[in-house]
Amino acid sequence: MSQFPQLRMRRNRQSEWQRRLTRETRLSRDDLIWTIVVTDQDTDRQSVPSMPGVDRIGLSQIVSEAKRAKTLGIPAIALFPHIDPKLKDSVASEAFNPAGLIPAAVRAIKDSVSDLGVIVDVALDPYTDHGHDGLMNDGRIINDPTVDALADCAVILAEAGADIVAPSDMMDGRVGAIRQRMDSTGYQDVAIMSYAAKYASGFYGPYRDAIGTASSLIGDKRTYQMDPGNSDEALREVALDIAEGADMVMVKPGLPYLDIIRRIKDEFSMPTYAFQVSGEYAMIKAAGQNGWIDEERVILESLTSLKRAGCDGILTYLAPQVAEYL
Ligand code: PBG
Repeated sequence: MSQFPQLRMRRNRQSEWQRRLTRETRLSRDDLIWTIVVTDQDTDRQSVPSMPGVDRIGLSQIVSEAKRAKTLGIPAIALFPHIDPKLKDSVASEAFNPAGLIPAAVRAIKDSVSDLGVIVDVALDPYTDHGHDGLMNDGRIINDPTVDALADCAVILAEAGADIVAPSDMMDGRVGAIRQRMDSTGYQDVAIMSYAAKYASGFYGPYRDAIGTASSLIGDKRTYQMDPGNSDEALREVALDIAEGADMVMVKPGLPYLDIIRRIKDEFSMPTYAFQVSGEYAMIKAAGQNGWIDEERVILESLTSLKRAGCDGILTYLAPQVAEYL
């Protein structure tokens, strides 16, 4: 039985002051983690054609970029490497170089910017010539040797000063191995944000352009990243990562997986994050540039939706733009 006309939902929506009073979800700068691609090329910045507005940042500019994050009130940045193809090989040797690009960037930032969180991916794919997140044997991704390698990487990144390491590979057992290795080497205060439910997604295309793995990737990542149709499996993945010691969990991509975010938040009450990935970014930018959508509105709506679904924060290339809107 309808309660109309006593009840009129529109009464609360008549003016902006009423909408402000009744708004349930609010985006703030506290929700932002800015994803930044760092390049080892001798350049200040390089544009990425499939990600208009996102540049690869040279080491010469990384500190000023970090300072910009801080000035904008962004709590943390996440760094991703663009590596000279000449340094790539089948076993990701450059990932274990303590003087490599990302350790150098982290050191430089930590030396000159205080109170800004620095998150680093623990991943082999930027360093492998085959573009996979794991070591390979006979065309297969081999889990346990990869996990061992990732634990080595995590210690190097922790040693450089990273506050949070973020394994993005979807190997089994990597969170526990990284936790154990960091604890036994004195880095018990370095947190782990696990890419806990990471899907084998078409939305990563522009990122693979940005870090230079797009042309080299052999095959796809479906033997370790999740099938887009699965939801219960995401809860099992998250439960495992929590049991292994994850401090924060992430869902990736973001907008196509709002239901997963909500289930995880409800089930585990963990600090939960979404990665608004490169393809989500590219779609918004392309449509915005064509005048097909109102870019600012769509950006704020997308991020608000991620928050409404249960995110405590969002990794996004749009962080500086959003910080300015707010
Ligand atoms: C891989 C990694 C990927 C992203 C972050 N870390 C891509 C992949 O799994 O191939 C994607 C980020 C984005 O699309 O913005 N370790």
